[in-house]
Amino acid sequence: MERANFGSKIGAILAAAGSAVGLGNIWRFPYEAGNHGGAAFILIYLGCVCLLGLPIMIAEFTVGRRSKASTGKAYSILAPDTQWKWIGYLGVLAGALILGYYSVVAGWTLEYIVEALGNGFAGKGAEDFVASFQSFSQDPVRPLVWLVVFLLATHFIVVKGVKKGIERSAKILMPMLFILILILAVCSMTLPNAGKGLEFLLKPDFSKVDQDVFLGAMGQAFFSLSLGMGCLSTYASYFGSETKLGKTALSVGVIDTFVAILAGFIIFPAAFSVGIQPDAGPSLIFITLPNVFQQAFGAIPYLPMLFSVMFYVLLALAALTSTISMHEVVTAFLNEQFGLSRSKAAVIVTSFCMILGVASSLSLGIWSEYTLFGLGCFDFLDFLTAKIMLPLGGLLVAVFVAWYLKRSVSYDEVTNYGLQKAPYFPVYMFILKYIAPVAIAMIFINELGWI
Ligand code: TRP
Repeated sequence: MERANFGSKIGAILAAAGSAVGLGNIWRFPYEAGNHGGAAFILIYLGCVCLLGLPIMIAEFTVGRRSKASTGKAYSILAPDTQWKWIGYLGVLAGALILGYYSVVAGWTLEYIVEALGNGFAGKGAEDFVASFQSFSQDPVRPLVWLVVFLLATHFIVVKGVKKGIERSAKILMPMLFILILILAVCSMTLPNAGKGLEFLLKPDFSKVDQDVFLGAMGQAFFSLSLGMGCLSTYASYFGSETKLGKTALSVGVIDTFVAILAGFIIFPAAFSVGIQPDAGPSLIFITLPNVFQQAFGAIPYLPMLFSVMFYVLLALAALTSTISMHEVVTAFLNEQFGLSRSKAAVIVTSFCMILGVASSLSLGIWSEYTLFGLGCFDFLDFLTAKIMLPLGGLLVAVFVAWYLKRSVSYDEVTNYGLQKAPYFPVYMFILKYIAPVAIAMIFINELGWI
């Protein structure tokens, strides 16, 4: 059977960008930027994306397209009879674990869409939003229903396959997302007092920069660009021979960064406008934004509702294209490794993630006393994947491509067998060989608190 491919170069770019753009950009980026002083963090983040994110993305693309296999099998093909295959297995496991708890937060966006549609935010104040978020996220039933709905949506798109499912949904969802996010950013920036938020975003305060900011920005870059678990390497296995790896990586990096920064332009002007602190943390989106919309546009009936609905729809769409990419990694692995049909493989993945998701969701409420290393299931999965498995995966991919694979393999992939010029090639290899491994090792060590 001929291996599935994305039907076009733009389809490949949008699918990869769909994976990268997600809760990481719209929820995590503003919160990290807010905690680390705004503009200075953003500048360092940009440096990390260019210097580390893009080379590692090209390395993942190289592995995927060269092997024409999902990350679970790619290393056994490129390096037969070696232990490198563990990079692939690590990635598959990380994908399933991330999907388990990421879908919980993704499910919350659905609750907020429905709540907003029923005009449920009307007439509420800041404390009400805190209380209703807490009672919702700790509820033993409601979040589970949304989790299941979200996973089923992901499931059916993945089962539809690469061209009809992933590529088509990315082609529709990504442009919708850009339009929505642009409208919201413009509205937010025209609120009274929005100037303070803009200043926070644009005027760097370097006195706040310490090692923590630098390492935080690097970690955010990997999470946001979907690096370190073979997600983009699996997508690259569907790239056609004409897709240019460097250009695709650049496009994905630009789109992902653009969305993250625009999310900042939505959230900070709006937050400053109603006097909410920028370092309010992870609750920023689920607690303060409905409040912001309410206070900012409350004078006009139904306008806050409209904005809330748009915002949470956007968040749900962004999360959906990301959950699809994680699901695909595990589904493709079961399909290729064990010969299961795609639909059978997907059923296994969905069921597994539902169990993990239920445990993660309940760990925020009635199961909060069950802990592992002092963390509930949700926090434990987040810690294990984002803080341990992703940095390790990124480091290993860089080492594998730069030190194990022949240089000519990388050259052939990056230049499409000499058809394309790639003047950046020596710089790319140098970064991959020396700079990236050292820098990632530093994030890793720092996050585990060894220094
Ligand atoms: N990058 C996505 C986001 O910003 C999340 C994501 C999808 C991811 N696939 C991944 C993160 C693989 C790490 C690894 O929300």
